[in-house]
Amino acid sequence: MTEAGGATVAVTGATGFIGAAVARRLAGDGWRVRLLARPGSQGRLPLLAGAQPVIGELTDPPTLQRLLQGAQAVVHCAGAVRGATPGDFERVNVAALAALLDAMDQAGAPRLLHLSSLAARHPELSHYAASKRAGERLLVQRLPAARRLILRPPAVYGPGDRELRPLLDGMARGLAVLPAPRTGRFSLLHVDDLAALVVALLAGTVGWGDIHEPDDGHPGGYDWQQLTAAVAHVSGRRVRTVTVPGGLLALLGAANELRARLFGPSPMLSRGKARELRWLDWVAAGNAGVSGSGWVPRIGLEQGLRDTFTG
Ligand SMILES: NC(=O)c1ccc[n+]([C@@H]2O[C@H](COP(=O)([O-])OP(=O)(O)OC[C@H]3O[C@@H](n4cnc5c(N)ncnc54)[C@H](OP(=O)(O)O)[C@@H]3O)[C@@H](O)[C@H]2O)c1
Repeated sequence: MTEAGGATVAVTGATGFIGAAVARRLAGDGWRVRLLARPGSQGRLPLLAGAQPVIGELTDPPTLQRLLQGAQAVVHCAGAVRGATPGDFERVNVAALAALLDAMDQAGAPRLLHLSSLAARHPELSHYAASKRAGERLLVQRLPAARRLILRPPAVYGPGDRELRPLLDGMARGLAVLPAPRTGRFSLLHVDDLAALVVALLAGTVGWGDIHEPDDGHPGGYDWQQLTAAVAHVSGRRVRTVTVPGGLLALLGAANELRARLFGPSPMLSRGKARELRWLDWVAAGNAGVSGSGWVPRIGLEQGLRDTFTG
């Protein structure tokens, strides 16, 4: 599959932040897209001319059969990013992936481009990170190298993001409540650059068989002061910073987990998320392994922040 013409790509998680951006980019570049949404979520599918929706559960074999029929590739963006227990994450990030792989065995030999996470580097930090690592391991065991590509994005931001956005909005209003030590460093990637990367990789064979940690090309990532300064510049406001002590963050995470156990729904901030946030090195390895695809990140931080705030 070296060009868009006529090829069908199945996208899971197309109702989510990254999956919707990938689906839009694929359709815009002339690929035929088939989009999975679970019942009740289909209203959040992006409206794209010619896109074929498939409604059903990710673990339901007939649904997966309809999703995969005739598809040359699958982009697996569905994933659990919030939860309180190991099961909350494993059900989606491991068991549903296993069901998808089973269905792929029946559906000829489509390739799978899998959205993992930089968190998979440190499975010891959180149930989320452990499930993302387990998903990678499963994929490597089950699919030959030529049919799998794993992306570990860093923090992804842009219009539609719900994770970083509250923090960025607070900064733009003049107060940065930093959940991590000021010495921590992290990479960033705009969602439209990530979507463009996915499409570039689907169009060829560069990078297949490997795990990649793409970023926006900013050497060494960012620290919190650089991010705060960029938001201050874009918003035209002076931004004061307050760092949340690690103990307090962990306590908030524990309280959220208890509330989830009693009342649902799953929290974003758990004790594991607190440990992830306080980890000092979330700098991606960079783009060397994917540069042969012709992709280069185009959206710098200030431009990305501008369209995040207006998107
Ligand atoms: N955002 C980031 O900064 C970031 C960074 C690194 C890696 N990632 C990875 O990228 C992927 C997408 O993340 P995102 O930010 O786009 O998350 P998101 O906005 O929460 O979207 C998650 C998607 O997964 C679907 N999903 C969740 N549970 C499901 C289930 N049980 N069955 C079927 N579908 C299910 C959701 O469907 P519903 O709409 O029905 O809930 C939604 O389409 C995830 O695997 C995540 O680990 C994200």
